[in-house]
Amino acid sequence: MSRNGKTVLVTGANRGLGAAIASEFHDAGWHVIGTARNANALSSETVDMPLALDLSDPASLRDLTKTINDSGAEISLLINNAGFNPKDKKGDPNYFQSTFKIDHFSGTNVAESMWINALMPTELVSKLLPNPTDDAVVLNISSWLGSIGEKDMGGHYGYAGSKALLNIMTRSQWNGRAHHALRLL
Ligand SMILES: NC(=O)c1ccc[n+]([C@@H]2O[C@H](COP(=O)([O-])OP(=O)(O)OC[C@H]3O[C@@H](n4cnc5c(N)ncnc54)[C@H](OP(=O)(O)O)[C@@H]3O)[C@@H](O)[C@H]2O)c1
Repeated sequence: MSRNGKTVLVTGANRGLGAAIASEFHDAGWHVIGTARNANALSSETVDMPLALDLSDPASLRDLTKTINDSGAEISLLINNAGFNPKDKKGDPNYFQSTFKIDHFSGTNVAESMWINALMPTELVSKLLPNPTDDAVVLNISSWLGSIGEKDMGGHYGYAGSKALLNIMTRSQWNGRAHHALRLL
């Protein structure tokens, strides 16, 4: 049981910003549910309930939400932090180009970023916090590259497009509880 009675769900809590966020909330007395594609990669020192989630796989999302809902956990804060950047797909050098440059553009590959970074995170909200009038807060981690107003360079169709879509998914949930962390990054 948490010290303050609140539960936070952090996706991608195994490394990077997600691991730091999980650690901060754990230290502040929250019950931390953390996800990673490989749940074994989550630290038991900062994550109380380690669960697997691969956002490219709808069955994985379904399993995760069932486990959480069956556990009776009441989520106060859902942080959609896990994110895919096509530049990290090192095994396939053409992949990044197909999401970055217009002369290599692949709609299929750009859609994969949108799926992982925007559509599945929104489905996670739908399955865990379907009632827009409850007190839970959703924080979607975006990027300045997804800002129509701030993006001042070409390219990055996949990553930037996915974060722009995430921004409008956030705005579409507008009721005071959905926020994006664009300014922080
Ligand atoms: N770092 C920055 O400068 C910066 C700037 C702007 C926005 N952001 C955003 O901030 C968030 C965190 O960034 P970061 O730098 O901490 O990223 P990171 O270190 O690259 O970590 C990314 C996290 O997302 C997970 N992930 C990737 N693909 C996934 C998938 N298909 N299903 C589930 N999880 C997946 C990774 O899991 P694995 O360990 O399994 O790969 C990892 O936990 C991301 O949304 C990113 O777009 C970061």
